[in-house]
Amino acid sequence: MAGNREFLNRRLHSLFGVVPVGIFLIVHLVVNHFATGGEESFNKAVGFMESLPFLIFLEFILIYLPLLFHAIYGLYIAFTAKNNTSKLGYFRNWMFLLQRVSGVIVLIFLAWHVYSTRIQMAFGEEMNYSFMENVFSNPWMIGFYIVGLIATTFHFSNGLWSFCVSWGITQSPRSQQIASYVVLVVFVVLSVIGVRAIFAFV
Ligand code: HEM
Repeated sequence: MAGNREFLNRRLHSLFGVVPVGIFLIVHLVVNHFATGGEESFNKAVGFMESLPFLIFLEFILIYLPLLFHAIYGLYIAFTAKNNTSKLGYFRNWMFLLQRVSGVIVLIFLAWHVYSTRIQMAFGEEMNYSFMENVFSNPWMIGFYIVGLIATTFHFSNGLWSFCVSWGITQSPRSQQIASYVVLVVFVVLSVIGVRAIFAFV
């Protein structure tokens, strides 16, 4: 019985990391990238997102609740699960460890990011280009955001690799090798999109 519950939790944790949280991550980075087109372009993109009907409901169902579950169960896995490293090769061993380390960095980054943006908006702050320009007027914040962003894109991309194994999509060594290259491309593309958006405010 306890084994079944553990299995279900693992499956939900894995699924939520990609759908909906991973998909939201991609949409969020693409919307931010509109900042490279200038102030008006970014404000329009943000305005469109904010005009979606039932926004707060969508946010809770598609972002906060699945992310909270993934993060809390992720912490449990990161600090309690046995490291099954003897079965893995040298490279996968490192990726396994980095998945857990990056998860903790993402959690710290997200706590700050959500507090300083979404929660401030709930208290009446207007989210627009000038707001983010002000955040990035502090060079420490640029550094903090770059570390948080890279940890997040790494965690998501490397997570996609283990997601494919967990769900039986890549079973043979060859398909897992190909998946390693595919997720490397995902990591580089998302990181470039994210870093470009950060520097668009500087
Ligand atoms: C933007 C936020 C996040 C995204 C997009 C994300 C995505 C993912 C994905 C796709 C996986 C792979 C699932 C699988 O292996 O089947 C994963 C695994 C994992 N995540 Fe996250 N995650 C996020 C935040 C977090 C946070 C805040 C933590 C907290 C520590 C965390 C901890 C973990 C852990 C420990 C694993 C490895 C699970 C395992 O190997 O069994 N994640 N994540």
